Amino acid sequence: MVQLTRLLFVASLLATNLATLTKRQGGVITIENDIANISMVASILDTQVNGFPASGLAGALAINTDAGNLVSALNKGTTDIKATPGPLSESVGTTIVQEVEAMEPLILTAATTLVKEKPSFAALPIAGIPALILADLQAINASNGAFLDALIAILPPDLQPAIIAIERNNTPIFNAAIAAFSS
Ligand SMILES: *[C@@H]1O[C@H](CO)[C@@H](O)[C@H](O)[C@H]1NC(C)=O
Ligand SMILES: *[C@@H]1O[C@H](CO)[C@@H](O)[C@H](O)[C@H]1NC(C)=O
Repeated sequence: MVQLTRLLFVASLLATNLATLTKRQGGVITIENDIANISMVASILDTQVNGFPASGLAGALAINTDAGNLVSALNKGTTDIKATPGPLSESVGTTIVQEVEAMEPLILTAATTLVKEKPSFAALPIAGIPALILADLQAINASNGAFLDALIAILPPDLQPAIIAIERNNTPIFNAAIAAFSS
């Protein structure tokens, strides 16, 4: 009887481990898809940002739309990361860190280019566009920070510093861009 109880206990433990493992594997696939989509949406934003001011008011409004899509894509990534049990394995974690290292410059490029374009946003025939871009930059910064924080929480400890380094690099760039549109 004692042995049977023990056997059942071990069996349930294995089932629990298997369920966690399956959930983690499914989560990793979703996270990698999310990162690919964030990169794609950020590239679309970059193209639109690079096309301004030649693209005029329509271009400015498209930038606002694309920025909203980037925020949505980042938020989806954060939700999916939070639904994935950590810690990720070294090999999976390393791959994801590399993907994020490739993705982040796409997001930063938009922020730094937008700052240079501020006078052109201010010169548009309708007022209030710089305020829209300010709100976009604040939302992207917050969503990107939440995404990176969530990722850190499921990485093995030795891989966390790589993402912390990205956050340290991002913060002054976003702070400067947000400050530029706040004045
Ligand atoms: C990518 O993200 C955008 C913005 O959230 C969303 O509309 C689109 O459905 C996503 N595409 C994929 C393939 O997940
Ligand atoms: C940008 O986001 C970070 C958190 O990721 C936050 O510490 C910082 O205050 C934000 N910057 C601004 C200007 O809101």
